[in-house]
Amino acid sequence: MVALESRICFIDGKRGRLLYQGYDIRDLAERSTFEEVAYLLWNGRLPKAPELSELSGRLKDRRALPPPLVEELDRAPPTAGPMDVVRTAVSSLAMFEPGETRADASAIAGAERLTAVLPSILGHLQRRRLGLPPLRPRPDLSHAAYLLYAILDRDPSELETRAMDVALILHADHELNASTFAARVTASTLSDLYSAVTSAIGTLKGPLHGGANERVLELLDEIGSPDRVEEVVHAKLARKERLMGFGHRVYKVEDPRAAILREWSRRIGEAKGNLRYYELLRRLEDVVHREKRLYPNVDLYSGSVYALFGIPADLFTPIFAASRITGWTAHVLEEYQDLRLIRPTARYIGAVDLPYLPIAQRN
Ligand code: CMC
Repeated sequence: MVALESRICFIDGKRGRLLYQGYDIRDLAERSTFEEVAYLLWNGRLPKAPELSELSGRLKDRRALPPPLVEELDRAPPTAGPMDVVRTAVSSLAMFEPGETRADASAIAGAERLTAVLPSILGHLQRRRLGLPPLRPRPDLSHAAYLLYAILDRDPSELETRAMDVALILHADHELNASTFAARVTASTLSDLYSAVTSAIGTLKGPLHGGANERVLELLDEIGSPDRVEEVVHAKLARKERLMGFGHRVYKVEDPRAAILREWSRRIGEAKGNLRYYELLRRLEDVVHREKRLYPNVDLYSGSVYALFGIPADLFTPIFAASRITGWTAHVLEEYQDLRLIRPTARYIGAVDLPYLPIAQRN
């Protein structure tokens, strides 16, 4: 069902193609950077060299967390889930930086601010729970390298940085997925960008959407070894459970992002001398395709890459958010430009004309 018109992202679910502003995701994953893709999504065209360097500079300059937000993050209970922390942090930032919350084209400054700051929020929460020293600004690092540094407290290798850059590119946008639709619905009321992103983060959290990548790792740990794949898949299907990382509402063939991430899972596995996850996932793919004709989606392989970097599984979905922030905000900017309140209708299937009984007569 078509809900609105957009120029940002095109999915051909029958052929397994994905375009951002007309550019094939395979070219972007091969040749581009996350910063360049952010510019593309927000501005509708690839940047020239000075434009890209200015955007990269602004993203670096805007990484620091405002002290009142740090205080608020430090009050979060240690048991708080990272997605709850990220959602709350974005919502709070709107109070600390009210100048960034206008509901018009100038919201692009807010889009840059939120993109710049999300790695710092993730880094802060991870360092806090591990008792690591506070984040340093590190303007020498690209966005992907800074995200890894913030979480891991070490400089990532070139290969790790490129893998993260590609993962960020692949997750940056995906047409009217549930969280982007939530962001657009919020923006279509002329509410501000930070509110729209807060709606989107809450929506991404669900295991049928962005939460699936974390669950894939749980599944791999449950399976344990390749010879148990058949047994675990059959048991789950018999219980009518969903296999995380498989199936998609739009793709009827393989999600092109899964194919790219599969290759990165192998490359990182080889570099780390640990192909356990990769081999389990390949076996899992075969069995699930044979049994259910389901193809892998973007969430199947991403966690296997992040886990080999040493990233804990509960940060996988927040990392998805740190990338999708660019797509959400691009859609919010488009919504402000083409503004029309999104107000679908429902087909009513309930009762009609019931007699109203006084409370004493109800049983
Ligand atoms: N495992 C087992 N069965 C499945 C799965 C799955 N992953 N996906 C679909 N099915 C079955 C489903 O049980 C149903 O069977 P039946 O007709 O016998 O009841 C049939 O396929 C159709 O299900 P549906 O929910 O109507 O299909 P959909 O195409 O709308 O589902 C989906 C899309 C993503 C919700 C679903 O495939 C799913 O739950 N996948 C697992 C969660 C997941 O990996 N989510 C990440 C999605 S991609 C990233 C993103 O966009 O966030």
